Amino acid sequence: MIADPPPCERLIVDLGDHAYPILVGAGLIDRAGQEIALATGARRAIIVSDKTVDSLFGTALEHSLRRAGLAADRVVLPPGEPTKDFAHLASLCERVLALRIERSTLIVALGGGVIGDIAGFAAGILLRGLDFVQVPTTLLAQVDSAVGGKTGINTPQGKNLVGLFHQPRLVLADVDSLLTLPKRQLRAGYAEVIKYGLINDPAFFSWLEDHGTAVLEGDADARRHAVLASCRAKAAIVGRDERESGERALLNLGHTFGHALEAETGFGDDLLHGEAVAFGMLLAFTLSARLGLCPWPDVERVRRHLAASTLPTRFADLPSRPWTAGRLLAHMRHDKKVKDGAITFVLVRGIGRAFLSRDVPADEVIRLFDDHIAERG
Ligand code: GLY
Repeated sequence: MIADPPPCERLIVDLGDHAYPILVGAGLIDRAGQEIALATGARRAIIVSDKTVDSLFGTALEHSLRRAGLAADRVVLPPGEPTKDFAHLASLCERVLALRIERSTLIVALGGGVIGDIAGFAAGILLRGLDFVQVPTTLLAQVDSAVGGKTGINTPQGKNLVGLFHQPRLVLADVDSLLTLPKRQLRAGYAEVIKYGLINDPAFFSWLEDHGTAVLEGDADARRHAVLASCRAKAAIVGRDERESGERALLNLGHTFGHALEAETGFGDDLLHGEAVAFGMLLAFTLSARLGLCPWPDVERVRRHLAASTLPTRFADLPSRPWTAGRLLAHMRHDKKVKDGAITFVLVRGIGRAFLSRDVPADEVIRLFDDHIAERG
């Protein structure tokens, strides 16, 4: 007897003639081949992964593609953020071209945000554009980077400064892949889950207050619900504003502050992106309350939930650095979201009520940093 496949949910990113499905569920890598064949009609796929993820899921994905009748090859990159550069992009493109691809060849990005970004970018430029599928294996990639078509690499001038909007044909978020994810990576990805509640879904934030521990500790239903709700929130925003001409910028809640913190710590493992975003979101809430826009009890709820999720809520929780307000503000001024010289802030009127503001006085930001750095103790 053949067992029924584990349950999976299907969402659509509604982008007209390039709309695509997101599937969220367990056991999806094992049946990726049939889903990919159905969604893309491809006969041949190149799986792009990193060494760590390839050793965990590469063989299963390749077999699944072959069972569905697709020819499959694997290209494996080194793990880690340094892979997202011009040198690795060039080598990836050359290795894929050496496999004698055609316009109908599909790229399948199997991994976290780094792999999704560089493989998606390569797909966007190889033979002037190949179709690609995202198979995100980290929480951060499942709830954020694999959805919405942002692809790219880093340069010495900054992160993600070279890239393309290139939407995938399908996103397969297999929640089983989170079972092997290091706890710290999981918590960092969870910050992006919290973000969706804080932007525009207070009921989801309340649900996270009640079920966040279950999500982090591995409860399968809670995880599926959290990933699904996050993907639904992101799909809705991307569906309304694909190119970030307005509303999509709300997805940067906590990111402008977070980017400055990451810039000071070198964008490495000392402070993970999600950890920086977590503290950045609390700073955005605190700034909003100081400006008289947000009730203080909401700030306290955010702080409590971040702390309960073992995410940073104070400079004392960050790696030790000679933190100064001036340096942090200078990083914020170099963020690629600066427009006509003004920093775009995502501020809040409360939990679930985020909005964009470009007229926050610099001295308020300096005071915010100074006060928080001073309480470092
Ligand atoms: N990660 C933010 C966005 O995709 O717009």
